[in-house]
Amino acid sequence: MSRRFESRPQTADTVQKSDPRRVLLGIGGGIAAYKGPELVRALTARGFEVRCALTAAALEFVAPLALQTMSGHGVRVALFDREEEGQIDHIRLADEADLVVVAPATADLLAKMAGGHADDLLTTLLLATRAPVLVAPAMNVNMWDHPATQANVELLRERGVSFVGPDAGYLACGWEGAGRMSDPAVIAERVEALLAPRTLAGETVLITAGGTREPLDPVRALTNRSSGKMGFAIAAAAARRGAEVVLVAGPTPLPTPDGVKRVDVETALEMHEAVATELASATVFVGAAAVADFRPERRAAHKIKKESLGGSAGDGSLELRLVPNPDILAEVGARSRAEGGARVVVGFAAESRDLRAAARRKLSQKQCDLVVANDISRAEAGFESDSNAVVFVWPDRDDEVLELAPKPAIAGELLDRIEALRRERRR
Ligand code: PMT
Repeated sequence: MSRRFESRPQTADTVQKSDPRRVLLGIGGGIAAYKGPELVRALTARGFEVRCALTAAALEFVAPLALQTMSGHGVRVALFDREEEGQIDHIRLADEADLVVVAPATADLLAKMAGGHADDLLTTLLLATRAPVLVAPAMNVNMWDHPATQANVELLRERGVSFVGPDAGYLACGWEGAGRMSDPAVIAERVEALLAPRTLAGETVLITAGGTREPLDPVRALTNRSSGKMGFAIAAAAARRGAEVVLVAGPTPLPTPDGVKRVDVETALEMHEAVATELASATVFVGAAAVADFRPERRAAHKIKKESLGGSAGDGSLELRLVPNPDILAEVGARSRAEGGARVVVGFAAESRDLRAAARRKLSQKQCDLVVANDISRAEAGFESDSNAVVFVWPDRDDEVLELAPKPAIAGELLDRIEALRRERRR
């Protein structure tokens, strides 16, 4: 393998590759280039250091000063500009990137990439870099659908280039269809996924998320406030770490995280069945769903009418008889033990009092390796919120208290513990 001889001394400007956080953003000449500063912001908010390289046509759509301000670095446009090259030469820009994002990528830029052209700064960088490349195309729908463009995309995919989008919708050119550049937040999420260490490669993580809905009649149901955010954050983080992820989700409008297989369910019985189907291949099970412990014994075929209610006292009241639902986590815990205990089983406990004692009871009753306890009486934690504050309750070691943090951060901490458990079991 050929390597660059590094004669340049290490400076604050030449960051070591151990922390892969350097993104080179190539901006092509399309209307979507105006979203460049927003994309830079989405990337820097995730901790990436961003350098921008623009085609000459991109200058028509986005102000370099905006990109410079958002990224905190000078913006490169010209290949042979003595002043620009004096600051950081273009090969070094290509070498130091941990990932190159091209957003927007026009049809012309895709064609040049496929053809191996190097007739301006951006195409030269794309040919010189050894970093993975992520492309976010944006163009007129007919240009996108054209066999020439599709052949170029196919060729680039075969060479290992990743794509995000284009999305369908109204296009600036007046047409409707596929051709919109993906949202900057979605692109930033893909960058994060592509650069994440694949520490869960080879694992299959089965997760339940959200609340269940237990119908009374065609319009009414018993449910709870779970939004699914906690379970979806775990699913997204596990997929980023390279796991096969199956997410059994109660009703929620949350989008499916990248690379995750989603199984939508409504009731606890459906969730139970979906988990039973998926469990055999799972090396990790995480029960983050708020499963209804009970369901109405009878589901009325038609809407229950007020006038039809007599109530036992004849006062128009409605008596509901509830029957227990299966305990999914307890069954998974028991089955995993019976199978030898290689699978890591994690439960959650949402409690408003005696948090740790209740979590400890669940740990042993449901035969879990770990219970994540959340105090739902606390503001900004538990149901619906974007953050959570949890205690990891273990069978054989001290509880670990995690301070209030965004749910994705809690998910990361949880996956670190799960990885360690799986490593122990594989030994
Ligand atoms: O979805 P969010 O809005 O982000 O909120 C996240 C959350 C608060 C729902 C989540 O963090 C959480 O705590 N989930 C578990 C909530 C709960 O109802 O816990 P529980 O104490 O009822 O159940 C204990 C454990 O057994 C849970 O892992 C639950 O999934 C599981 N269980 C419970 C009942 C049942 N019939 N089957 C089960 O598998």
